[in-house]
Amino acid sequence: AKGAAMVTAVAYRLTDQARQIRETLAEFRLSKTQLLEVKKRMKVEIERGLGKNTHKEATVKMLPTFVRSTPDGSENGDFLALDLGGTNFRVLLVKIRSGKRRTVEMHNKIYAIPIEVMQGTGEELFDHIVHCISDFLDYMGMKSARLPLGFTFSFPCHQTSLDAGILVTWTKGFKATDCEGEDVVDLLREAIKRKEEFELDVVAIVNDTVGTMMTCAYEEPTCEVGLIAGTGSNACYMEEMKNIEIVEGNEGRMCVNMEWGAFGDNGCLDDIRTVYDQSVDENSLNEGKQRYEKMCRFLFRGQISETLKTRGIFETKFLSQIESDRLALLQVRAILQQLGLDSTCDDSIIVKEVCGTVSRRAGQICGAGMAAVVDKIRENRGLDHLNITVGVDGTLYKLHPHFGRIFQQTVKDLAPKCNVTFLLSEDGSGKGAALITAVGCRQREMEMS
Ligand code: GLC
Repeated sequence: AKGAAMVTAVAYRLTDQARQIRETLAEFRLSKTQLLEVKKRMKVEIERGLGKNTHKEATVKMLPTFVRSTPDGSENGDFLALDLGGTNFRVLLVKIRSGKRRTVEMHNKIYAIPIEVMQGTGEELFDHIVHCISDFLDYMGMKSARLPLGFTFSFPCHQTSLDAGILVTWTKGFKATDCEGEDVVDLLREAIKRKEEFELDVVAIVNDTVGTMMTCAYEEPTCEVGLIAGTGSNACYMEEMKNIEIVEGNEGRMCVNMEWGAFGDNGCLDDIRTVYDQSVDENSLNEGKQRYEKMCRFLFRGQISETLKTRGIFETKFLSQIESDRLALLQVRAILQQLGLDSTCDDSIIVKEVCGTVSRRAGQICGAGMAAVVDKIRENRGLDHLNITVGVDGTLYKLHPHFGRIFQQTVKDLAPKCNVTFLLSEDGSGKGAALITAVGCRQREMEMS
């Protein structure tokens, strides 16, 4: 009798646990109606960002980039590119050759940015950047060349020209002082002057989404949208000049850096945010900001061990590993063990289910945002049906086993009148910055002659 009672107790505990898990995860499961609602709200925020009278208060900033066209193949020359704001900091030399056989040759070096530099003073940060450039130029033997430079700076910048960008606010892990409200190109030029070792011609400041779009458009002219799903989440696309009310002129198009990571910062996504989203936000460096981005990036934090309570301990790469179909549950347990968790077989099943649910939601809400963008472009052009290509980059998109597929399926479901092709960019930030710099140099020559 005692044995039977124990069995019932265990069974009861299990079903109780199962119910608890089901209830918790239910909040992360979004219906099509809810996703369509996300798409609709994104559309509203897009219009607010573009409008003259609403721009100032808007959360989705829709920042003009002064990139007026995608590449046409005539870009030519040697360029230096910097890539700051992704997983790594890199300095690159990019050689672009036009003509019958177009080629792009790249050399690059990755440099670490220590956390104390990311979160120190602006001067320290920019001195460090220039120190890395100096090392790279030595390495390439090009210190005396005065090369044109494109600066991929993957943060929201208020641009008034191709080579001027005021940092609106830091995002992701950066927090260096005395940079917000400053022109980042000036900060770079001043740091180069302080070093007194070499000269450079800073031609363009570029968001990583724009670099990605340009790189893909160089191969595929129908690419007019860029997406990053990685450390941050953001998109850009070619908008009609007449719709960008904060820039003068009505002719043609300009690429707009949406800064969609801030979607929801005005509370418009509160009904689908869970207590877990709130706690991720509260424990972040930038509380209240980049709420959509945080939902797309699915940081996951449990309450089980002291280690697991450490902020940022559950890296996205664990999530990718855990959800890989090739990974046996035993290996899931090994990952959990690294995190100081003694898990049972049941635990690893649960962890896998939680990861799957949270990343599915990330792919879906990110897809809902993209559906709003492609439908906006379709409406801009007065088309019943739009064929378009989206250039994509980002570690999450590239390395997670399911994110990309769920994202694409969601775009298809929510924007049925658009036929969207996704193109993975190869080294989008560096190559794209060089392409934009090439276009910038050409424009300048035309203005001078
Ligand atoms: C953050 C930045 C944005 C960038 C994105 C992807 O959202 O604010 O500028 O494009 O991360 O790196």
